[in-house]
Amino acid sequence: MLRIGPLQIHQPVIVASGPLTRKLTLLQDAQRAGCDAVMLKLTFVDVPFPGQMRSFSVPGQTILSPIDKRLNVDQGCELARQARAETTLKVFANLGARGDQDAHWQILADRFAAAGVHGLELNFCCPNLDTTSLAATKTEHGGAQIGENPDACYKIVQLVKQTVDLPIVCKFLPNAPDVRAVGRACQDAGAAAVHVVGLPTAGLPPIDPTRPGIPDMPLVDNVAFGATNGSICKYSTFMAIARLARAIDIPIIASGGLENWRDFVSAVMWGASGVSLCSSIMWYGWRVVSELNQDLADYMAQHGYTNWQDFRGLALDKLTSPDKIVVRPGVCCIDRDRCIGCGRCTLPGHCDAITLQDSKARVDDALCIGCGVCQRLCPVGAITYDAM
Ligand SMILES: Cc1cc2nc3c(=O)[nH]c(=O)nc-3n(C[C@H](O)[C@H](O)[C@H](O)COP(=O)(O)O)c2cc1C
Repeated sequence: MLRIGPLQIHQPVIVASGPLTRKLTLLQDAQRAGCDAVMLKLTFVDVPFPGQMRSFSVPGQTILSPIDKRLNVDQGCELARQARAETTLKVFANLGARGDQDAHWQILADRFAAAGVHGLELNFCCPNLDTTSLAATKTEHGGAQIGENPDACYKIVQLVKQTVDLPIVCKFLPNAPDVRAVGRACQDAGAAAVHVVGLPTAGLPPIDPTRPGIPDMPLVDNVAFGATNGSICKYSTFMAIARLARAIDIPIIASGGLENWRDFVSAVMWGASGVSLCSSIMWYGWRVVSELNQDLADYMAQHGYTNWQDFRGLALDKLTSPDKIVVRPGVCCIDRDRCIGCGRCTLPGHCDAITLQDSKARVDDALCIGCGVCQRLCPVGAITYDAM
């Protein structure tokens, strides 16, 4: 169970703000799949520019999206009202405005409070809102530019907190010079939780070589730097969680490349209190949620956990600086009965320890440096590592 202020969220997966939370029927799908909380699609008083989702999508890697359809405040509040009336979900609004638009933050907070949401998620994370001139100050930008500036985060959280009595979640990326300062600013200003999304945050699609000069993205005439969500963010998400977990006491929700029970367990063991998913559900459907719930329940039963908070932060004391990593000597071991002789483990360019003999891989212990690469190349799990 995850607590955000007075709210209790009983199910592991929160649906992240985005295409999955833009209309009621999808929110109903989320509830049926076993979610207890959703973050509605980003809403503005003045939508900065019209849009429609376009993407370069590589399942298992990234959904690179430079543009999406955002809601205006009437649409966002109507969706919130429908969600409250037609579902039992805990509903968070996802609010966007520029850093200098104090009145907009207040209007959004007021209007969503009146629409009955359970909480507010302040969007300090969107990487594709920066259309203002290069001369603008950081607080005049929206989204990710706010999240790089602890003072701006502090000011907006305080403003919203003074406006409404709802739990506030601050959503940002780890791209500030020090993400811990951003987390502390949100905590000090009274946020109930933070939501961190791992890097990389923005990128460009490849060029389609059959159409020289044309970016490989359907149904657009040109592109901008696009948000790069999905699996490629996962390891940065773990890092951001761990850094924040050592710096703040309020719950950390994490998204960015998380897609199954293993990712959930890793995120929580690095210090997250809750987890939010978007790309994996977009690729593989709502079964991602039901499977994660079931697999996590099995894992917890196996290990005697009744609440995922029981294992929160368990990995943190393993995190140190590189000079304090203890390197234990050892070599890879090949299970010759399992080995199918495919030779993939002989491919690594940096390694001359493994050869094929009689159609089976064989390791020369004296040459093996114990790097860990061949283990993940083996398609049948025949390679393990033994300490000497
Ligand atoms: C197409 C698309 C649109 C998104 N729109 C929003 C948004 O409106 N507000 C927001 O806070 N995050 C938005 N996100 C970010 C997601 O909420 C989530 O934090 C991010 O995708 C990382 O999780 P994932 O790797 O599971 O996708 C969007 C993501 C995608 C892919």
